[in-house]
Amino acid sequence: MSPHHTPKSALPPLLGRGPKGVFRRTLPHEQPTGARMVRTLGLTQLTMIGIGAIIGAGIFSLAAAVARDVAGPAVLISFLVAGAASLCAAFAYAEFAGMVPKAGSSYTYCAAVLGEIVGWIVGWDLLLEYTAIVAVVAIGMSGYLGFLLEAVGIHLPAWALGAPGTGSGHRIDLLAVAICLGVAWLLTRGTRTSARVETVLTIVKIAIVLLVIVVGFTKVDSGNLQPFAPFGLGGAFTGAATVFFAVFGYDALSTAAEESLEARRKLPKAMMLSLAVSMVLYVLVCVVLTGMQHYSEINPKSGISSAFQSVGLNGLANVIAVGAVIGIVTVTFSFMMGASRLWYALSRDGLMPAWFGAIHPKRKVPHRATWLIGGVSAVLAGVLPINAVAELTNIGVLLAFVVVSASVLLLRYKKPHLKRGFRCPGMPVVPVLGIIFSVWLMSFLQWETWVRLGCWLVVGLVIYAAYGYRHTRQVMPGGSVDLDTLDELSESDEAEPTPVP
Ligand code: ALA
Repeated sequence: MSPHHTPKSALPPLLGRGPKGVFRRTLPHEQPTGARMVRTLGLTQLTMIGIGAIIGAGIFSLAAAVARDVAGPAVLISFLVAGAASLCAAFAYAEFAGMVPKAGSSYTYCAAVLGEIVGWIVGWDLLLEYTAIVAVVAIGMSGYLGFLLEAVGIHLPAWALGAPGTGSGHRIDLLAVAICLGVAWLLTRGTRTSARVETVLTIVKIAIVLLVIVVGFTKVDSGNLQPFAPFGLGGAFTGAATVFFAVFGYDALSTAAEESLEARRKLPKAMMLSLAVSMVLYVLVCVVLTGMQHYSEINPKSGISSAFQSVGLNGLANVIAVGAVIGIVTVTFSFMMGASRLWYALSRDGLMPAWFGAIHPKRKVPHRATWLIGGVSAVLAGVLPINAVAELTNIGVLLAFVVVSASVLLLRYKKPHLKRGFRCPGMPVVPVLGIIFSVWLMSFLQWETWVRLGCWLVVGLVIYAAYGYRHTRQVMPGGSVDLDTLDELSESDEAEPTPVP
């Protein structure tokens, strides 16, 4: 591994970058070959995982609610504003992915640039966010799935229809639990197998979104688009904070860096491609949604299907509901994969017990972490109402966006010569805009959300003090690594695909 050096500092050792300092910079701990994941994912599969994570509940559920309640047809502006914020951060993520092709995403990036404790806080924060996202989308999908089961005459008992308090007799959201555990099972079959399933499902999802656009445009009545911004520009901006949920997902893709072929070049491309494709589709769907039906009549729960119903296309409305279910499964898949890879990275570096991050000898995936994320998200999805879980998501992702954008900015000026597979354009404006946009969107979130995040971070700091601080020094002794050694990380990046059962 890299040579370590201990910079001179006036800070006490605990707050410095030396061996004892919580701000020492760390690079991912190299694993023996048998304990590593294998590189099997090419540009197409990576892009599909990205689109799989981006297009989901945001467009299928939130767009309709925002159009009806806060933005009207200007929901299009909400998507563009959220998309611009996300794009600034995506450039920063892409630059990092092109520099540090290692699992762990924002955790790994921040630990390398801002120091171990910042990396841990971001990693711990995202562990909660990603698990919560899995639960949110599973609950959202269980609604659509229940609707489809009813349509074919299958009636679940009341106790299985939702979390306690969400309806009479409800005890558990059985379908949401089944989705979480089913996706965990699929992910433990191996990266290649699960990525193939993800690719097929994402293609079906894109096809259904294209169907919505093509057929929907023939039914657009321009009268419905007037007035364009009935709640003013303020409504469109408020809507942006909500539909922000729709425009992230490529960040979860960066956790697959150790399973990507030529990660330095392909990961940044896949991130930009997946966001670009999703944004084009979003803009067109917004026009169709608000053009087919007057915004005040849009059904906030099943907006797109209901819009098709409103113009007499009932059969197509059902096909779209199936598309929504598939779309949401792929989001569950991508974020569960992201959370398990993050857990793997934290265990690999000694911040969590190694037991959690163990790689299955045959399947080459972090199977224990995957089952744990599957189990925890199943419990959350089974017994909590959707809004309680949903509130936990955007704030953590936005926090990670701020830290990653700041890290890219710092590193570009401190280490301009490092090899970069992708360079964030418009330095320093783009990452600064990414930070401003993210903080601004965070300001719209409720104070309870901030308190919950605060509590989670306190728990994280206690774990760090009681376990991580000591163990990570056993795994990776020494002070701050020399960031110039980031270039060495590309060595394993050109590996040939390895056959995996
Ligand atoms: N972007 C993802 C979705 O909309 C989280 O479901």
